[in-house]
Amino acid sequence: MITGKTRITGVIGHPIEHSMSPPMHNNAYKQLNMDYVYVAFHVQPEDIEKLITSAKTLGICGLNVTIPHKTTIIPYLDEIDETAKKIGAVNTIQFKDNKAKGYNTDGIGAIKSIQEYTTLQDKNILILGAGGASKAISFSLINENINSLTIANRTKENAEQLIENIKKQTNFTKIQYHTINDVDEIIEDMDIIINTTPIGMYPHHEVKPPIKTDNINKNHIVMDIIYNPLETQLLKQSKENGAQTINGTSMLINQGLVSFEIFTGEKATYKSFEEALLNQLK
Ligand SMILES: NC(=O)c1ccc[n+]([C@@H]2O[C@H](COP(=O)([O-])OP(=O)(O)OC[C@H]3O[C@@H](n4cnc5c(N)ncnc54)[C@H](OP(=O)(O)O)[C@@H]3O)[C@@H](O)[C@H]2O)c1
Repeated sequence: MITGKTRITGVIGHPIEHSMSPPMHNNAYKQLNMDYVYVAFHVQPEDIEKLITSAKTLGICGLNVTIPHKTTIIPYLDEIDETAKKIGAVNTIQFKDNKAKGYNTDGIGAIKSIQEYTTLQDKNILILGAGGASKAISFSLINENINSLTIANRTKENAEQLIENIKKQTNFTKIQYHTINDVDEIIEDMDIIINTTPIGMYPHHEVKPPIKTDNINKNHIVMDIIYNPLETQLLKQSKENGAQTINGTSMLINQGLVSFEIFTGEKATYKSFEEALLNQLK
């Protein structure tokens, strides 16, 4: 029940009505019997500056941020956490003592998902894509003592820019670009493959995977951050070849759990987020 003391959290985006975050957070509030609510706010790009002032005025205690505001919101924040600063994107804002502090929980969400299956130390990792999600995951992986990172992308310049950015901001040097079309040549040298491109996402779920899967085998872990469908063609073919597969729900849930804790100081259960998400995806 909404009361006079109900605390408000939510997500801003454009568009926003398909966000999976409201059911996940609200289910956790319900199970933990917390007097909080989580709502979706449709915010136009030109209104982003007013957003922070409005949220402070209304006493909103936390906001997730999604496309297209993750970068453009940064100049209007009072503080930004180190990882989010390096990534150059914010997906979580905590409002406390009239200050807005930005975080990025996407990378840590992905890391936690992989760590449920294996350790990251000394691993050779291939990331497909060089957009926002790839950036967040790449910066977070580098903190985990991996051996090497290879980025394969359709547009070479975008991957090279990300690589240059990583080299400039960290002391990690074992990072290189590879063309996405012939990435199967290097699959044997990889331990973990992560797809961050939207190839295979509903309603285009029947298309070919972003890479050839012939050389993927039981020694590989393959993660696709797409969560609709639950099993993309890439995951289906990788599983048929014996690989361990991870779908995009675990990253979505884990990034949300970290945001939940930033907003409320409480820990929600994985199950409370998962059951709400799977219910939405049905
Ligand atoms: N599970 C989760 O929690 C989670 C979180 C965030 C995002 N996601 C999903 O991750 C995907 C990417 O999100 P994003 O924010 O990183 O997007 P983004 O910033 O737009 O980046 C998209 C990347 O995919 C590449 N790409 C796009 N279309 C392509 C195509 N037809 N062929 C080859 N490459 C293509 C782009 O390459 P170019 O550089 O050549 O343009 C770029 O590297 C989306 O499906 C999104 O739903 C999931």
